[in-house]
Amino acid sequence: MWFLIRSILFLLPAELTHQLSHPFMRIIAPFLTPVSGSAKAKVGLAAGFDKNAEILTLLPKFGFGFAEIGTVTPKPQGGNDKPRLFRDPKRNALFNRMGFNNLGSGIISERVRRAKKLLPPDFLVGVNLGKNKITPDTEAASDYAKVAESFIDCADYFVINVSSPNTPGLRSLQKPEFLIPIVRAVQEKIQKGARSIPLYVKLAPELDESSLQEIVLALEGENIAGLVLTNTQSGIYIYRGKEYSGGYSGSPLTEIALQRLKEARKLTSLPIMSVGGIMTVRDAADRFNAGATQIQIYSGWIYGGPFFIRKLVRSLSK
Ligand SMILES: Cc1cc2nc3c(=O)[nH]c(=O)nc-3n(C[C@H](O)[C@H](O)[C@H](O)COP(=O)(O)O)c2cc1C
Repeated sequence: MWFLIRSILFLLPAELTHQLSHPFMRIIAPFLTPVSGSAKAKVGLAAGFDKNAEILTLLPKFGFGFAEIGTVTPKPQGGNDKPRLFRDPKRNALFNRMGFNNLGSGIISERVRRAKKLLPPDFLVGVNLGKNKITPDTEAASDYAKVAESFIDCADYFVINVSSPNTPGLRSLQKPEFLIPIVRAVQEKIQKGARSIPLYVKLAPELDESSLQEIVLALEGENIAGLVLTNTQSGIYIYRGKEYSGGYSGSPLTEIALQRLKEARKLTSLPIMSVGGIMTVRDAADRFNAGATQIQIYSGWIYGGPFFIRKLVRSLSK
């Protein structure tokens, strides 16, 4: 049934379908019974789906135990020109070059504050932190810290995102000499807040084992809560004869994200949220077997349908 509906929805431009999914979710959420099960707390919505915290309060009904909003930047920004989101159904993949379109930390933090009052207390809201495109890399740390400061009273965890392929130069911030000052700037804001907020770092799938090792070792000295592995895989997509650069999600990432998880697991006992190409219950189980503490899903929800997460949580809880 979902396959049929999906074929019709996939006739529309991908970003339009995404926008239409929000009112659709609002309509069906009241009819869904709550999902329970021990696995629920371990399955979350990956960053980029609810960039502006518009649908947070609906997510528990769809089976999620937590969600990561954003990427949020200090100032609002429009992102790249459209088209910037594409589907590749033959490969069960998405391709995006969004470029951190978001309403900025002021508006979004206000929304999270409101949503938190309505959400179940055990539903965690993570905030994925980013920098504005116009901020030079040398001033990046202050952007990440500013966003963290806006959410200091309402975020359940933070993620430093230095791995999106769609903000020029961002991935170079994965190098410890840039990354550690960012981590410290965010930690400084957290320490000034009333609660301790776990801080994660989200990395790219292309890191080779030695770069991953260098980063993990550097982070271990920094009171980090864990890693989010991985972001999208950078690549080229050809649409109507034009080449676009951006990042692939979905099935093309399944093996590579699992591989990065296994490598990281050998290097560290830090918690790892595994994300990338989790399209089936089997994929999810593989991640937990390989040592993931939590998993996050984006493309698997698009391809598997609105009830995929509910089914996944029930199966994993058995
Ligand atoms: C349209 C789209 C937008 C995304 N935006 C972000 C983002 O703003 N920040 C981020 O850290 N990851 C972003 N991601 C990456 C996802 O969080 C996730 O790491 C990636 O899609 C792999 O998971 P998946 O295979 O389950 O989709 C985005 C992904 C997609 C498809």
